[in-house]
Amino acid sequence: MDWGLKNRIARIISPADNKALMLAVDHGYFLGPTEKLEDLEKTIAPLAKYCDSLMITRGALRTSVNPDYPVPIVLRVSGGTSIIGEDLSQEDITVSVKDAIRLNATALAMSVFVGSKYEYQTIVNLGKLVSEAEEYGIPVLAVTAVGKEIGTKDARYLSLACRVAAEQGAHIVKTYYCENFEKVVNSCPVPIIIAGGKKIPEKDALKLTYDALKAGAVGVDMGRNIWQSENPVAMIKAVNSIVHGTNNVEQAFTLYKQLSGKPNNNKPTQKPNNNKPTQKPNNNKPNNNFKN
Ligand code: 5RP
Repeated sequence: MDWGLKNRIARIISPADNKALMLAVDHGYFLGPTEKLEDLEKTIAPLAKYCDSLMITRGALRTSVNPDYPVPIVLRVSGGTSIIGEDLSQEDITVSVKDAIRLNATALAMSVFVGSKYEYQTIVNLGKLVSEAEEYGIPVLAVTAVGKEIGTKDARYLSLACRVAAEQGAHIVKTYYCENFEKVVNSCPVPIIIAGGKKIPEKDALKLTYDALKAGAVGVDMGRNIWQSENPVAMIKAVNSIVHGTNNVEQAFTLYKQLSGKPNNNKPTQKPNNNKPTQKPNNNKPNNNFKN
């Protein structure tokens, strides 16, 4: 594998533990001003220092992320539909690789809609994007999108979708957690990251994280379950304590409550992972110089 490609993947999936915590804030590309993501900058600024990478659109990046803060960017380059349109699967590539390079994207992300009316278009787009991005050593993350049917897909479908994406050359696949998730992971030759999905109680989201990692996912690309949480910073730290730390669900939830300032009768058995950087070591990097 090309040095640049390897280096960029290492900025997304930490070589120290082969794990990844990606913060997803790209929802507006088809959902518009999603609840708690109406003001992008206000939502992103306090959280960015706790993730390994940020999944975001071109417009949101330019307008709402301080370029002095070097969080690795996973740039969404597909779109073309909205939640009020006819068919979410009719996506195309909307951002050129040239513009992604100009934005210093670490990776590109696009959706494939396997089994949908527009599967051909989205799968061919993935293949073409991988070919073009590899010319510049840029990895591609394929999202196995399910349109409005989120939560209704099983291991059989998700294995198929992930495998199709990997066979087209995707370097990382993002999908949804499901029962028998090992089947999805074991039949996909590239690393799998899970989406958080719609907002669920914090403890359930931590369990989702724990179960997915236990089944072999390398990490999460989580959005709503972090920034729609009552305490987003506490939540991202709790998720991190599972992804990059050794906390189980109870320990992570205890940490969440503790960081949220909630009364807590059960003492945490484990501390937050203070020794471990939540982002790749970067001595030139300011701690948090986000505007806001
Ligand atoms: C939509 C996406 C989102 O980034 C993804 O769904 C992750 O966010 P959430 O954890 O809120 O589901 O790729 O296609």
